[in-house]
Amino acid sequence: MRVLDEDLRDAARSDAKVLITGESGVGKELAARTVHAFSARSSGPLVALNSAGVPDTLIESELFGHVRGSFTGAYRDKPGLFELARGGTVLLDEVGEMSLRMQSLLLRFLETGEIQPVGSDRPRTRVDVRVIAMTNRRLIDAITAKTFREDLYYRLNVIHIVVPPLRERKEDIAELAEQFLRQSKQQYGTEPIEISPEAMSCLMEYQWPGNVRELKNVIERCVVRLRNRHITVADLPPQLLGAPIVATAGTEAARASVADQTFNRLVSGEESFWAAVYVPFMNRDLTRADLRRVISLGLERTKGNYRLLLQLFHMSPNDYKRFLNFLRKYQCQLTFQAFRVIRNDNPGQASDASPNDPPVRLGSSR
Ligand SMILES: Nc1ncnc2c1ncn2[C@@H]1O[C@H](COP(=O)(O)OP(=O)(O)OP(=O)(O)O)[C@@H](O)[C@H]1O
Ligand SMILES: [Mg+2]
Repeated sequence: MRVLDEDLRDAARSDAKVLITGESGVGKELAARTVHAFSARSSGPLVALNSAGVPDTLIESELFGHVRGSFTGAYRDKPGLFELARGGTVLLDEVGEMSLRMQSLLLRFLETGEIQPVGSDRPRTRVDVRVIAMTNRRLIDAITAKTFREDLYYRLNVIHIVVPPLRERKEDIAELAEQFLRQSKQQYGTEPIEISPEAMSCLMEYQWPGNVRELKNVIERCVVRLRNRHITVADLPPQLLGAPIVATAGTEAARASVADQTFNRLVSGEESFWAAVYVPFMNRDLTRADLRRVISLGLERTKGNYRLLLQLFHMSPNDYKRFLNFLRKYQCQLTFQAFRVIRNDNPGQASDASPNDPPVRLGSSR
């Protein structure tokens, strides 16, 4: 984040156009607003347009405004986006989704700075605005596919800032999580909240496909549901406990046992334990060893908590007894102690243990 911050400050010192790229939720808009805020234009307006949300018929009027009487319903002159942003910055979001028509209108404006409102027979004025464009698409691919104009790409891409996905800057996770905790605390007026070391390691291990936005939502969701002042593994949503193990090479995939594949399917998909494991087991397509392996992989994820296993394996909380009876009947109920993590601040006590968890017998270790 500090490297990014430097890049943003550098960009703010110049007045050149900026293209910000990165996956969804990485913080492109925040970055764009930061550039404006640090720039000499910060006291000027900041106007944002979602390029994907403007129908082709309204583009010209949106960008350049219209004059009274230019079409049915145009009762008065209306300024367009660029005029509203005079002396300031225009944020063009999702430029990768712009229609070709909008691309050519934008290009013309970038070249001349002239504004010709709809219904006017000549350009009325020139405006000075800075354009910051954002996209989560690879524009180079769009150029190859002829859906994005190459000349426009080079116009927009004077300073290019890439905001990396969260999984490539794991050192930001803890800092961001703490920041979102503080924000939620202010918003909901709760007591100071701490994240347990085990929960933090789940946050660190997760791949965050939704990036910072997803992290923010997870923390907020934890805060509003929290019953005490600690966020533990049990408070985290199931996707964080069941990050799929992706086999990287064909040979690895081939080597992965039936049980591992079943487990991955179970935690990454929407199939429940009953469909993905119980039925094949009863049909003898899965062996007892497979079943034990699936349970053991699950308990590793939930740090030995059987109740969380229900969530991880897409079962209803009411299935608890049925699930345990099934495992007991086929001697596949594993000892959970092996998976529990001992908390440093509470020696000798297993973490994440629910006081309601019934005693679990040791299963056969064969
Ligand atoms: N460094 C950061 N510090 C604090 N909050 C952040 C940071 N980066 C992103 N966020 C927050 O994450 C959320 C998503 O950020 P933003 O809207 O800027 O993402 P985006 O890249 O524009 O996503 P999309 O492509 O989906 O539009 C916002 O709530 C934003 O405030
Ligand atoms: Mg955005």
